[in-house]
Amino acid sequence: MTVRQVQHSGDIRDDVTADFTAAFGGSPQGVWSAPGRVNLIGDHTDYNDGFVLPFAINRRTVVALSPRADSVARVATSFTDEVAEIDLRELTPDAVSGWSAYVLGVAWALGQHGADLEAVPGFDAFVDSTVPVGAGLSSSAALESALAVALNDIWRLGLDARTLARVGQLAENEVVGAPTGILDQSASLLSREDAVLFLDCRSLEAEVIPTGFAEAGLEVLVIDTRVEHAHADGGYRSRREACERGAAALGVPALRDLTVDDLQRAQRLLDDETFRRVRHVVTEDQRVLDTVAALRTEGPLAIGGLLDASHASMRDDFEISVPELDLAVEVAQANGAIGARMTGGGFGGSAIALAPSDAISRIRVAIDGAFAEHGFGQPEMFTVVPSAGALRDR
Ligand code: GLA
Repeated sequence: MTVRQVQHSGDIRDDVTADFTAAFGGSPQGVWSAPGRVNLIGDHTDYNDGFVLPFAINRRTVVALSPRADSVARVATSFTDEVAEIDLRELTPDAVSGWSAYVLGVAWALGQHGADLEAVPGFDAFVDSTVPVGAGLSSSAALESALAVALNDIWRLGLDARTLARVGQLAENEVVGAPTGILDQSASLLSREDAVLFLDCRSLEAEVIPTGFAEAGLEVLVIDTRVEHAHADGGYRSRREACERGAAALGVPALRDLTVDDLQRAQRLLDDETFRRVRHVVTEDQRVLDTVAALRTEGPLAIGGLLDASHASMRDDFEISVPELDLAVEVAQANGAIGARMTGGGFGGSAIALAPSDAISRIRVAIDGAFAEHGFGQPEMFTVVPSAGALRDR
């Protein structure tokens, strides 16, 4: 999607309220917001029914919204001049495209989860965001989740956060057309401050685990390589297919049903490439479990090696890294990070480095220098803190 990034100096909730009034007149009935996420560890495990460990970040998508007297839905945003408009009675997955597919896709997906789109009121919505687009920080899930909580409220649907995560995923899969799992929407809807979300993607059972980052003097630096990725096509889909092929050949419903002890058999039965895809997923599930155990017992200083091993597995076995991500990770590791890895779907986007607060500026300078030396475009870097999931702000 073509978007422009907007800079915010004040409270984004004030801006979005004022923008709503300028676009539609009157005051919004409410303001809702949902965060982007980073995944601490556990990538490409979600659609294999496995384990993930994300947290919501302190960058949010905010929506000001009011119901209308008719059945028209209108959505405006500060990042494009285009105003999306559709009659809810005519809403189908094919009727919307571009950025509005995320927003109106959620309205359609709520229709699949019990909302009567023949009866509910239309709405005016103004959307703004501080989640960078195309950075692999789930700006799309933030958008879907913000709309999902807003419409759940004004349509009085009473759906819980897990169901709203399914709604966002359905919008993404069926309307946007990206074959993604449940990680991003769950992180955006279920996360809590200062904690990671330990999610079983098969049962959707979730547990909130305190990170202990601040107590240990650690911070998470995001390195957005500015290498654009898209999950509707290409690599993401083919990795997913390889996992499904591997599970079928090994006679299990999903790769979640294998453990590291099954890898020898897997190696005998699968071609080399499929085997390496499977090995990534199986070992990554184990690394999530090990990270949870380490956070519970020894604390966050003990998880660095798991983050590093996860990156190596995504680079070598799953082959979803790019040179910019590898460089960011290597330079962070060499300059004081206790662990670093690419995060999210891959093929671009962001890496994270877990590092002592006093090493952060050294890491940033070193990464800037290394990127310049390699002739790579300048990355964006900022620290993030584990934050609350989607909520009604006003
Ligand atoms: C993207 C998808 C998620 C998940 C990650 C990889 O972010 O949207 O569902 O598969 O990639 O862990």
